[in-house]
Amino acid sequence: MAADLTGVRVLVTGAGSGIGRAIAGRVAAGGSRTAVADVQGDRAEEVARLIRDKGGDALAITANVADQGDVDRLIAETVSAFGGLDVVVNNAGVGAIGFIESVRDPEIERVFAVNLVGVIRVTRAAASHLKASGRGRIVNIASVEGIRGSGLLPVYSATKAGVIGVTRSNAVELARYGVTVNAVCPGPIQTEMLAPLLADERYREKLIKGVPMRRLGVPEDVAGAVAFFASEEASFITGNVLVIDGGMTVKAL
Ligand SMILES: NC(=O)c1ccc[n+]([C@@H]2O[C@H](COP(=O)([O-])OP(=O)(O)OC[C@H]3O[C@@H](n4cnc5c(N)ncnc54)[C@H](O)[C@@H]3O)[C@@H](O)[C@H]2O)c1
Repeated sequence: MAADLTGVRVLVTGAGSGIGRAIAGRVAAGGSRTAVADVQGDRAEEVARLIRDKGGDALAITANVADQGDVDRLIAETVSAFGGLDVVVNNAGVGAIGFIESVRDPEIERVFAVNLVGVIRVTRAAASHLKASGRGRIVNIASVEGIRGSGLLPVYSATKAGVIGVTRSNAVELARYGVTVNAVCPGPIQTEMLAPLLADERYREKLIKGVPMRRLGVPEDVAGAVAFFASEEASFITGNVLVIDGGMTVKAL
């Protein structure tokens, strides 16, 4: 049973594939009006069409969250189409694999621009609309890599730790306007982002062995929690960081 989001105006960034696509589908199934945003416009169009085919209300927007002009247009188009904005899901993100000594400056800048600065810019642009909503919600997609270390993803981990920091700070600031701000930290979820790591069968097996539930997650494992944070039931929950990892981060050995 999807969380009831009837008429709630939701924007999901990076909604063209993987976790964002599942989130868009889930909130739309709960009755939301959904802006499906992605830097890959054809994918956003496809997801929006699938939602509309099921009787939902969806709008596709091509936008790069690392570009300030795109972010301003993204929020303006969403607000103009829906007459306001109630929920922002900051999901767009990119991976960055490589031990610290192999990290190169252009990659540091690219990954920070999308994963952390993108979250800050989208939130900044959306804030006045969320305050006006009366039931504003921000859900940020961080990662278990923001709270623990694998060694292999130092730049990515830094951006996700940053997302957790922004979540907590904004939760305090926006609470007085009735806007909640929460984050989810997925563990390994089977998407295109994880594909390069999963291609190595030994790494895949090691990863699964580290998950007490003995499987990788699927995007739908994350979507339900995001829909809950967006719902009325979660109106007094703010500043939370919810781990969704099959028990991986609490495992001692
Ligand atoms: N897959 C995992 O194991 C995992 C684990 C923890 C957190 N996450 C996070 O979940 C989120 C979604 O990742 P995913 O696994 O679904 O990856 P994915 O690669 O399947 O999807 C990411 C989507 O974001 C879009 N995107 C990338 N850069 C963008 C930009 N600059 N502007 C707008 N859209 C952009 C891509 O086009 C793509 O559609 C990311 O923030 C990621 O860091 C993923």
